[in-house]
Amino acid sequence: MDKFLIRGGNPLKGTVSISGAKNSALPCMAAALLTPETVILHNLPYARDIITQRRLLEDLGATVLTPELRTHKINASHVEVFEAPYELVKTMRASVLALGPLLARFGKAKVSLPGGCAIGTRPIDLHLAGFEKLGAEIRLEAGNVVARAPQSGRLIGTEIRFEKVTVTGTENLIMAASLAKGKTILHNAAREPEVIDLCELLNRMGARVRGAGTETIEIEGVQALGGAEHTIIPDRIETGTFIVAAAITGGELEIKDCRPEHLQSVIDKLTEVGVEIEEVNSSTLAARKRKPLRSCELNTAPYPEFPTDMQAQYMALMTQSEGRSVIAETVFENRFMHASELQRMGARITLDGHHAMVDGPTPLAGAPVLASDLRASASLVLAGLVADGESIIHRVYHIDRGYERIEAKLRAVGADIERLRESVTGTLEQVPGDVAVA
Ligand code: EPU
Repeated sequence: MDKFLIRGGNPLKGTVSISGAKNSALPCMAAALLTPETVILHNLPYARDIITQRRLLEDLGATVLTPELRTHKINASHVEVFEAPYELVKTMRASVLALGPLLARFGKAKVSLPGGCAIGTRPIDLHLAGFEKLGAEIRLEAGNVVARAPQSGRLIGTEIRFEKVTVTGTENLIMAASLAKGKTILHNAAREPEVIDLCELLNRMGARVRGAGTETIEIEGVQALGGAEHTIIPDRIETGTFIVAAAITGGELEIKDCRPEHLQSVIDKLTEVGVEIEEVNSSTLAARKRKPLRSCELNTAPYPEFPTDMQAQYMALMTQSEGRSVIAETVFENRFMHASELQRMGARITLDGHHAMVDGPTPLAGAPVLASDLRASASLVLAGLVADGESIIHRVYHIDRGYERIEAKLRAVGADIERLRESVTGTLEQVPGDVAVA
């Protein structure tokens, strides 16, 4: 298993380019299952979850060509298998996004029920309740969800109100409803930019989806969908992570190929704590720290509020800010795994249920730490960049799931970070230069 070796203390300086959004790429890839024609996706991030999703599509029978590194041409004209097995779902929960498209187009699907994970129990009951409202029959069989469309083979449009805002639940239901008979209205839908991106792709494929980006989405089902070409939006969480990297190291970064309007809540909060963020143009931000940072409370919540996917990185920053900040995680019940690792580096953090109290500023000291999930790994990398001495971040496969070559991007702007590979004999090897994540 790979590790990162970071020697902290270098202020980051230079330009970084933001990759495509993993959480938009995953549903868009699944959407290719809705049509026998070819869907071409550009700007896919070169990250592990994208490779896993590609494998799922290929296992189902689709062909995926890669004319360029970040472009996939997906053709699902011959789907022979209608199942996302445990081996895939356990490594990537987003494989449940195959359920909606398979059920809508083929009238049947089987997906292993995802268990809990490092950030919470994460049930998919809201996805399943929605499919049932569309007329599907849902059974649980040996740990799998088995779904069947009504006798006619086609789902039936209806009105669905989500009890709780769910991103992939909204995406799954939009995809399922796009081929249903009649109109579906989703209430309390997720408003994330990734949902809008998926709907743009679906509409290019011939779907009739209106209201994406609001809490009410209307889908007029169509008989069939066709091919389309689409470019994935930039990753707003990667953008936010690099803003924090500039601030925590006392450096200055130009962050290009991003969409500032997708992270307004993050920009507002980081500005409030004292990070200077300038919108250079519609796709470029400049971030720097010129004065000491101050602490500020934070609540995570669905879009357009502050994203849970930036909470861990914010916590790392708060260890360097003056005063006490109280962070409330309201989306996932167990998303503070990074706190105890940050404590090992000297951070002063107290946990109380879904609140974390961070007292700063505290000088951090390099230490060996363990990454528990994707965003937790990002926060440990950020802490390592400002810590005194050497940090080793174990289990960086978590970070490889969602960030494209983060160590190469950081090194290019002055960070002292190396990927260490474990050789077959168990000793560590240092990998020189730019190393691809896969
Ligand atoms: N929930 C239910 N029942 C459901 C679905 C969700 O109770 O059927 C609960 C969840 O347990 C959670 C809340 O609703 O407490 C919100 O979960 P949501 O369904 O929105 O999360 P998700 O769709 O599984 C996506 C992202 C996550 C991101 C969350 C929240 C993808 C592939 N994943 O997950 O991304 O944290 O939305 O914004 O889009 C990440 O990238 O690191 C990541 C975890």
